Amino acid sequence: MLLTNLNLATMIGGYGLIPDAAIHLEGGRIAWAGPRVEAPKLPSTDCGGKLAAPGLIDCHTHIVYGGNRANEFEMRLNGASYADIAKAGGGIASTVRATRAASEAELLASAIRRLDTLLAEGITTIEIKSGYGLDVETELRMLRVARQLGKQRPVDVITTFLGAHTFPPEYKDARADYVKFVCEQSLPAAAQAHLADAVDGFCEGIAFSAAETEQVFKAAKALGLPVKLHAEQLSNLGGTKLAARYGALSADHLEYLDEAGVAAMAASGTVAVLLPGAFYYLREKQLPPVASLRSHKVPIAIATDLNPGSSPVHSLLTVLNISCVLFGLTPEEALLGVTANAAKALGLKDRGVIAPGMKADLALWDVERPGDLAYPLGFNPLAVVIRDGEVIRGGLS
Ligand code: NIG
Ligand code: FE
Repeated sequence: MLLTNLNLATMIGGYGLIPDAAIHLEGGRIAWAGPRVEAPKLPSTDCGGKLAAPGLIDCHTHIVYGGNRANEFEMRLNGASYADIAKAGGGIASTVRATRAASEAELLASAIRRLDTLLAEGITTIEIKSGYGLDVETELRMLRVARQLGKQRPVDVITTFLGAHTFPPEYKDARADYVKFVCEQSLPAAAQAHLADAVDGFCEGIAFSAAETEQVFKAAKALGLPVKLHAEQLSNLGGTKLAARYGALSADHLEYLDEAGVAAMAASGTVAVLLPGAFYYLREKQLPPVASLRSHKVPIAIATDLNPGSSPVHSLLTVLNISCVLFGLTPEEALLGVTANAAKALGLKDRGVIAPGMKADLALWDVERPGDLAYPLGFNPLAVVIRDGEVIRGGLS
């Protein structure tokens, strides 16, 4: 398939714009991309000047869960903090109760609605975490549902085991035993069933200490799994430095990250995943150190963090916008954050940019310039999605 009359955002070295471009797709891959005048002589489809960018990648989500926490939104608006609610047994623990009580079919049915909402904005790869089961059975059920989502919808699903999300009630007074349980039981079970592509944790005052997190990282490494970490969201515990020492793919949230942490990320090639949805919903004041990330050349990704508590955000386009408005990213940085850098955050080398040999996952947009994607709120200019070289949404005439 040769597509012509495209405005191409290759996302190589910034937008990497090629006006009046063409793309040749073959066998699910990009065979060639460049100026139309240089295109191979093949029958072609005129795309009417649409913007072509890589399919979008949401590199941090928790879309599989049971229950609903709208009550906590009201509590927070009445003055309670996220940490207060967590300490009182709400927060993540409340979703754990509901997720344990939900069947696999129920979890699949609720997650598929969330996924469909995300896919309507041109997402072709999504990361999905466990972490609301915390026992072996429910963690595996969540991960099976995540894999199933990738079979029922045209999207690549990357799964992440998040057993170290919080301490479950049965281990409330036995923290060391729960860490041991994660390292010796739930994580190995997920790995053995090939249900975890990576391992994540929540390093925070209300969750796991750096020392506890390190034990989980050691277990992950022993199983050959890459790590990533929710770090420096509400305070600075040095989680990012630890993550960098373990060669983490990404460290996520990072509002309280300091310069030494940024330097550690730069040295280890760890991607900074910023989550402006959680910042927005929790009405945080502390901004992530964007200027420092830039000066140390740490790749910045952004994601929805779609979850029932801190970020019930079902729109990656909205995240593009609020990352610019709240964090001061440029629209170019924001688009890199859901394409090239989001791929890096997942350790995926075959996508996120438009170049020969890459997976033919593309989103075509009815916009003039790539910066237009981050500008409006609540407007979706998606025209066509191509996955593995096949049109899966919209149509080419
Ligand atoms: O990424 N920070 C920890 N985990 C999630 C929130 C999970 C929840 O509140 O249910 C996050 O924001
Ligand atoms: Fe998260």
